[in-house]
Amino acid sequence: MVTRTLRYGEQALGEAARIIAAGGCVAVPTETVYGLAADATDSHAVAGIYAAKGRPAFNPLIVHVPDLAAARTIAEFDSDALTLAEALWPGPLTLVLPLRRDARIAALVTAGLSTIAIRVPAHRAMRGLLKATGKPLAAPSANASGSISPTRADHVARSLDGRIPLILDDGATQAGLESTIVAPGDPPRLLRPGPIATDRLTMLLGREIGAGGDGIEAPGQLASHYAPGKPLRLSASERRPDEWLIGFGTVRGDDTLSAGGDLIEAAARLFGALHQADDAQPEKIAVAPVPESGIGAAINDRLRRAAAPRD
Ligand code: TXA
Ligand code: MG
Repeated sequence: MVTRTLRYGEQALGEAARIIAAGGCVAVPTETVYGLAADATDSHAVAGIYAAKGRPAFNPLIVHVPDLAAARTIAEFDSDALTLAEALWPGPLTLVLPLRRDARIAALVTAGLSTIAIRVPAHRAMRGLLKATGKPLAAPSANASGSISPTRADHVARSLDGRIPLILDDGATQAGLESTIVAPGDPPRLLRPGPIATDRLTMLLGREIGAGGDGIEAPGQLASHYAPGKPLRLSASERRPDEWLIGFGTVRGDDTLSAGGDLIEAAARLFGALHQADDAQPEKIAVAPVPESGIGAAINDRLRRAAAPRD
C-alpha cells in the first residue's frame, strides 16, 4: 500500500472521509498526538487499525465524538462524568464509562470490556473528520504498537509507511502528550496522567482522585510503552560519552525540552525529542530531571515507561 500525506484542507478531509466510509483508516492529528482513525461502528474497519499498528487485540481503543450529546448515546454518564465533560470538552480528557447496551460500537473497540473510553477532541482536523463522516471514530495513537507516539506527520510516516493509505498533515500537535484518562466512580481514578493535571480534576470534582490503573483497566499503560529503540537513563545531570542528552531547564543537552523550564513547552516537544534521540549517533539516551508538578507528572510517566526494561 502506498501511504499519501495530504495537507489539511477541504480536499484532504473529503479524501479522508471517503477512505473511512469505505472501511479504511486514516492518520489524523488531534490536540494531543496523531491518531489512527476508523469507523467505530464497523468491526472490519477497527480490525484494520489493530492490523496496521500490530497492536495486541486485548488493548481497547478510545472513541472520538463531536460533542457531549453524541457521547451520551454511547456511554452512561453519572454526575461526576458530566461535571468533567462539561468543564473540559472539547479537550484532552478521556472518560472511561459504562458502555450503553444500545450503543452501536464494534466489540473490538472495547476489546470486549463493559466500559468504553470516550472523548471529544478539540483539533480542527479531527473535528472536521468527525463532521465529514458522521461516525464515531475509534483512534489510538498513530504509531506501531509499543513505539513512540507521533506528534508530527513525519513521525506517523516513519512508523506506519506502507501500512495506511493516508496521513492528514496539520503540523505539530499542540499538547504533545496523550489525553488524561479518568474513570469516574468512588473514588474517581486516574488511569493515565496527561495534559489535564490532577489538581484540575480534584478541583472540579471536589474530592481526591485515586491512583491509577492497575495495568488491566488501561492495558495501554504497560510498563514498557512509548519505547525508543535505545536504552534510556533518567534524571541525568550530565552527558556520558556514549549518550545523547535531552536537557531541561539548566541542564542543557544535545537537544533541550525547554531551556526556560516551561513544562508545557517540554510536553509538546517530548515525543519529537525522543524520535530525534533515536535517530542520533550515540547508542544511548539520557534525559535531564523534569519536575513532577502539573503536566510534569505526565511527562515523567511517559519517560519512566520509555526507560522501562523490555525484551
Ligand atoms: O490523546 C489520546 O488519547 C490519543 C488521541 C489519538 O486521541 N489516543 C490515544 O489512544 O492515546 P491509545 O489507544 O494510544 O491509548 C488508549 C488508552 C490505552 O491505554 C487503553 O488501554 C486505554 O486507553 N483504554 C481504552 N479503553 C479502555 C477501557 N474501556 N478501560 C480502560 N482503559 C481503556
Ligand atoms: Mg498509544
